[in-house]
Amino acid sequence: MHEIRNKESLAPGIHLFEVVAPEIARHRQAGQFVILRVHEEGERIPITIAGADAVAGTITLIVQEAGMTTRILCAKRAGDHLPDVCGPLGEPTHIEDFGHCVCLAGGVGVAEIYPVVLALRQAGNEVSAIIGARSHDMVILEKEMRHAVHQLHITTDDGSYGLHGLVTNPLQAMLARGEIIDRVFCIGPVPMMRAVAELTRPFKIPTLVSLNPIMVDGTGMCGGCRVTIGDQIKFACVDGPDFDAHQVDFEELVRRQQMYRSEEKAALQQWQEKSCHPAALVN
Ligand code: FAD
Ligand code: FES
Ligand code: MG
Repeated sequence: MHEIRNKESLAPGIHLFEVVAPEIARHRQAGQFVILRVHEEGERIPITIAGADAVAGTITLIVQEAGMTTRILCAKRAGDHLPDVCGPLGEPTHIEDFGHCVCLAGGVGVAEIYPVVLALRQAGNEVSAIIGARSHDMVILEKEMRHAVHQLHITTDDGSYGLHGLVTNPLQAMLARGEIIDRVFCIGPVPMMRAVAELTRPFKIPTLVSLNPIMVDGTGMCGGCRVTIGDQIKFACVDGPDFDAHQVDFEELVRRQQMYRSEEKAALQQWQEKSCHPAALVN
């Protein structure tokens, strides 16, 4: 059992949890994730380790309500427990002193890129970040990112904060100005990662994306997270989740992500119809 030590709301439908998991807190590295269940009969879902306090023995998870399981999770409170939290999983992000790195993230992806930004800074890189959200109230970790990077651009889809537009706009402007960019890291929705890949491809800038296929076991056994990278089949849970953006078959990724849409919709509907208030499922 893993106690939720602390919970905070970061934005509508996005919550931060500090969860007791001392071993994971000690060993995790940037880019890794956990697979957890919210109750004994629950499905397994992957969540990135956004931070850790090895002394307190806690890990930080930042979760956006997407469907049934994340809603049950987000209804939990400090003092509640998660039956199992497995990790750290996945290959850590490859970090070294590359020079000037640009890190892009959208939505809850900001929580996922934050540990990568910190690790890049620690390795001596100059880091520019571009973070995007639907609107001002959905921008998360702005203060932390501002503190961590040399240059921060914020974009919103509706123009309510920062630059009006997509995260790709400031990147496009940097490329057009001829800024030297040694490496790009990107975490977010598939269309965003794909657009970033297409922007950097002509410039041959090494670009890493963190892929988010459906994961079940997280140990390379079930095949759920299969992705195609160039002419190779990879399992994102053990070979990734980071891959060369210029080699990713994004079409296949989108297809596979949507494979269980009708079941996911039905599960959410059934759960809502049963008036199964989240509080009833806590512990
Ligand atoms: P559902 O209604 O079941 O599904 C909604 C959509 O989420 C699906 O269409 C599918 O595309 C995706 N999804 C569903 N089940 C899974 C699954 N088992 N594995 C992966 N994707 C799934 N979300 C966060 O909010 N914060 C994070 O830090 C975070 N980190 C992630 C790290 C990795 C490596 C991956 C692969 C995903 C991460 N996600 C993160 C996404 C998160 O796992 C999904 O939003 C969650 O599983 C949805 O579950 P659900 O039951 O609430 O929604
Ligand atoms: Fe099963 Fe990756 S989640 S092989
Ligand atoms: Mg689900």
